[in-house]
Amino acid sequence: MVKQIQFFDTTLRDGEQTPGVNFNTKEKVQIALQLEKWGIDVIEAGFPISSQGDFEAVQEIAAQIKHATVGGLARCSIEDIDSVREALKEANHKQIHVFIATSPIHRESKLSMTKAEILASVKKHITYAKQYFDQVQFSPEDATRTEWDFLVEVIEVAIKCGATIINIPDTVGYTNPTEYGALFAYLKENISAFDEVIFSSHCHDDLGMATANALAAIEQGALRVEGTINGIGERAGNTALEEVAVALHIRRDAYQAENQIKLDETKNTSDLVSRLSGMPIPRNKAIIGANAYAHESGIHQDGVLKNPETYEIITPQLVGVSSNDLPLGKLSGRHAFVDRMVSLGYDMSDKVVVKELFVKFKELADKKKNISTTDLHALIAGATIEDQA
Ligand code: KIV
Ligand code: ZN
Repeated sequence: MVKQIQFFDTTLRDGEQTPGVNFNTKEKVQIALQLEKWGIDVIEAGFPISSQGDFEAVQEIAAQIKHATVGGLARCSIEDIDSVREALKEANHKQIHVFIATSPIHRESKLSMTKAEILASVKKHITYAKQYFDQVQFSPEDATRTEWDFLVEVIEVAIKCGATIINIPDTVGYTNPTEYGALFAYLKENISAFDEVIFSSHCHDDLGMATANALAAIEQGALRVEGTINGIGERAGNTALEEVAVALHIRRDAYQAENQIKLDETKNTSDLVSRLSGMPIPRNKAIIGANAYAHESGIHQDGVLKNPETYEIITPQLVGVSSNDLPLGKLSGRHAFVDRMVSLGYDMSDKVVVKELFVKFKELADKKKNISTTDLHALIAGATIEDQA
């Protein structure tokens, strides 16, 4: 059966926890509006109690976003919950996200709380939040390092007190796809109300597995995926939502999951977040990196010119990139060279001329990393080959 996956974006909250990233309210609103255009289901607009600026940004986003649900983060604290209530007053659709750490290391070293105290706090604060919100999300922080039986206990209390969404954070990016999938399977097996609420994945990328972990959770029953655009976030970042969205599309045979994301707005969304966060996108980044649709080797270029599907599983247009790229360099073959020269208007029908030109081109390519259009015109004009870089 095809399931519907909700996309929850936390670029403006967890994403802003990226060292060196600080969005002002205007920038946050700009990103929120673009996220809505991208088709996002939920925007976590911020952590209102954390600063006056964050409070105001959440308030402004709540007032401007029409279709997506707008959320705010709260610890298990009445003041935090009240701050989210206040900030989200104007929202058309709203949710609160309440969290408390549950793992032994967090219980003992950070919170100095016993298991019983954690359970009591969840009961008190989820019950309180439920008075004001229909949609209450609960997160047992550091869930993946929490004892599984205790996790079940905590989640059952949260559901009983009114939580409608249960998020399973891999707070420190510790888990792997097999384990994270198994955790969701265990929760499904051991929580009788599993199907009455939405289970959500929230992964960090410390071991480079955030996207794979999110997909493993979806395979095992998660109906919501949390992450950020370009994967920005604390330390190594969060699940990159654009990666999940495209993976679900390209491999729908494997995941059988639909969603509302408008993939052709992906590049615009990614570029905006990159620009406003000051976080450049690595060229080799999946989906949105400059090299993601570029083919360098002669064998690949020849294949792509004959049929792009030989080496492209994603068309650039799918994500809003205008075309693929066949950069000319020392690895390029004759096919790509001739194709480019023809596109520049040159007659390449004489095999002898092509042979000579291609030898010259290779000589130049051995000296220069990137061959420009000017270089190609110069080649034809018989100009001296010199490194113009
Ligand atoms: O990573 C995490 O545990 C979080 C929680 C606040 C959900 O971001
Ligand atoms: Zn997080």
